[in-house]
Order: sequence, then structure tokens, then C-alpha cells
Amino acid sequence: MTLTELLPSLGCEAADTLEPGVWPPNTTRGPGGELMFAGAPVSHLAARFGTPAYFLDEVAVREHAKAYRAALPEAEVAFASKALCTKSVLRWLAEEGLSLDTCSAGEIAVARSVGFPAERILLHGNAKTPEDLKAALAYGVRRIVLDSLDEIEQLGALAHGRQQVMIRVTPNVQADTHQAITTGTEGQKFGFSLRPEVHDNVDRAVEAVLAQPSLRLVGLHCHIGSQVSRVDRYEEAARRMVGVLTDIRDRYGITLTELDLGGGHAVPYLPGDPEFDLDGYARRLHVALAYECASHGFPLPRLTIEPGRAIVGSAGITVYRVCAVKRGSKTFVAVDGGMSDNPRPALYGAKYTARLVGRATHAPRRSMVVVGRHCESGDIIADDLALPDDIHAGDLLAVPCTGAYHHSLASNYNLIGRPPLVGVRDGVATILVRRETEEDLLRRDQG
Ligand code: LLP
Repeated sequence: MTLTELLPSLGCEAADTLEPGVWPPNTTRGPGGELMFAGAPVSHLAARFGTPAYFLDEVAVREHAKAYRAALPEAEVAFASKALCTKSVLRWLAEEGLSLDTCSAGEIAVARSVGFPAERILLHGNAKTPEDLKAALAYGVRRIVLDSLDEIEQLGALAHGRQQVMIRVTPNVQADTHQAITTGTEGQKFGFSLRPEVHDNVDRAVEAVLAQPSLRLVGLHCHIGSQVSRVDRYEEAARRMVGVLTDIRDRYGITLTELDLGGGHAVPYLPGDPEFDLDGYARRLHVALAYECASHGFPLPRLTIEPGRAIVGSAGITVYRVCAVKRGSKTFVAVDGGMSDNPRPALYGAKYTARLVGRATHAPRRSMVVVGRHCESGDIIADDLALPDDIHAGDLLAVPCTGAYHHSLASNYNLIGRPPLVGVRDGVATILVRRETEEDLLRRDQG
């Protein structure tokens, strides 16, 4: 029996509790069907900033950063800025002592604009452009993670002095996640292979870097994928990477001192989704690295990890207004946003929940499909969702867990301006990124 079949018989009270785990910890139910987000009533936020809009709980972001630093006090925690790259967010995370994983000149420009310390920044990417490399060199980004022989040559020519670099390795660890976000196996585009029969393998990469006097190899990197909940996969990657560090020492006589195991830690989007066991991860990684290093007689490298989603994902919500309800062969609740502010269901089959906010109702709940306003039938936000039968145009819907890869993946499809990103702390709301206007959209079009 599905949740929606069960809910009418449970009554409204049970159905109206906040789904555990998926809303930011500072989100609570208020009177009259209100939702309190970081101390502010969501219906007031929607009235003030319009819809659709992304809201971000600053305290939750900072708490996630603190939790990572507390769980892994000896590791460098680099926020993957691709998850959410805005000036305020980078400023908060710099203050919390995090480092930063960037993957373009644009992300470096945002980091630079807030004075994010360059020695705490890494640059990634399987196809960095000369502009990306030059931006990293100009700002003094401490580590550039190399992902092709061409890039090694290009950076070797551009760099002066001894630019610190790492080599991205394909550890061939299956992450058990969606294929589009699996990045540590053979046959996908990231990293150098460990297979001797593959031409562009790790050994060739090491030799190519050593042949460049302007580059200094300091470590290895791997990233097995995203939305990964299995800690044993990280243990496996850590063990393999120590093996590679040891092989490089034995073959080339160099002891690399840094190991970056990437990010990818899962967050729950729906009740019942697995939670990432951060303390278990920290403990098991520590044991695995200590054991492997001791058994190979290799000095413990400095560990870097790169969580993105786990820092900002569950700190954010999106609020939409219902434009129309169509009671056809299914009940479709169409809202004023959709795949332009959240392409994740279309890209990865991602699932979301949503709740009515701002008014109380005792109407029974029925299974409905929340859809967007875009001209594609795949423009679905949440399928088979139990919503009150009296839902109507003008109602507000809040969707949790939209802090990561929503603002950053948003598009202008159908020439709809991207939503604002609003930070909320202790009930005080501040626009972090304003709504995109038709004027913004027209400005680039040269006629
Ligand atoms: N490090 C590297 C090198 C990465 O490529 C990524 C993500 C991360 C760290 C951070 O992963 P996270 O902890 O955020 O899972 N758009 C997709 C996710 C793509 C992730 C790409 N790389 C989504 O919405 O699920």
C-alpha cells in the first residue's frame, strides 16, 4: 500500500506532521497551517519575495559545516561550490574554516570577490579552458587537480614557479548511485585509469607531470560519485588510493603527502531515504587509512574531502504558488516554477515531497502530481504526493531539500527568469541573489 493510499485513513493530523529528516532542523509547523523556516513564516516570505523563490537557512548551512569539521578535525573540508556558489554562502563557509572546491573561472571569480583564501582553494574539471587555468594561476589557487595529459602540458606551459597539482584517479569503485552522477568507474570521462593497458593511465600522468618543471605533484584525488550513502564505498576508495600512492613511491621515488577523496555524501530527499553516517564515515575512513598506510609503510597523507550537497542541500527550500489544479485522469497541481528551477527529476529521476503552507485544512488527502509550467510532460516536481483535496490556485507549496544543485542548475527555459535566493536567519530574510528579470534576459540578446 502506498503512502497516499494510507493517508486518508490516518486523518489530517498525522498527515500534517513535518516529514522527519527532510526539512531543515530549524523548520517547524506554525499556527493555521503555517510553516516556520529559520524563524520566519513561509507565507510572509512568499508575500515579500514572490514565488517561485529559494530560501536558505544560514544557521543550518553553518551547522553542517561545523559538523564536518568536528567529525574530521584533522581533515581539510572543501565545500564543492558547484552545489551552490554565491558570495554570501562562500563567505559563511570561509568563516567556518572550510576550504573550497571550484571548477571554473566563474566559481573562482565568486571566491575571489569575497577574498576566499587562495591557499584553501582547489580547481577541478575534466576540460579546463585556458581561462579557467589562468584564473586559478592569477588568484594563486593552491592546488589544481589534473584530469588529462593535454591539460598537464597546457598548465605546464602557463604556470610559473612550482604550481601544486594533484592527479585525479579513477579508482574503479562502484558508488551505487544514478549513472549520470557515478564518477569513479572505468568507462566514464573523469580521472586517469589504473589499468596498465589503458593509454592515458595514472603512470603516464605522473610521468607527464614530473616532466614539467613548473608543476609540483603533491597528491592524488578521486571522487566516486554523488548522492552516495554507502560508507564502505569510501573505505574501498581510500584503500585503493593508498595502494596507488605506494605504487607511485615505489616506481618514481616520490612520497605524495595529500589525498583528496572527493565528496558525494547523500542527503535524504524523502522520508525514509538513507542518511549519510558522517561519524561512521569519519571513523571508518580513519581506520582504513591508518591500516593501509601502516601495512605499506606509507606516511599518513593529509586528507581532504569535498562535500557539496551535504552542506547546503537540506538547508534550502523552494516555495511555489499553485497556478492551476486539473482534475483529469490524475490530479495535476501546476505551480509557477518547474524544471527551470529544478531539473533534477528530469535529469536523475530525483524524487521530492512538498507541503501546502499558509492555510489550515481538514480536507482528506489524495494522490496528486505536482507539475511545473514548462512545455514538457517530464516537467514534474513530485509524483504521487498526498495533498489536501481542496488545494486550489493561489495556494503555496513548499518543497524541501533544494539548497544544492537547484540555484546552480537553474536555466531560463521558456524565458522564465531564475528565482531569487533568500537567506534567512533568526527570522530575518536577506536577498542573496535577486530574481532574474525580463530586462536581464533581454540584455544579452543583441537583436
Ligand atoms: N568533488 C568533485 C570533484 C565533484 O565532482 C563533486 C560533484 C563534488 C565534490 C561534490 O559532490 P556532492 O557532495 O555535492 O554530491 N547535479 C547533480 C550532482 C552533480 C555532482 C557533480 N560533482 C545533482 O543534482 O545531483
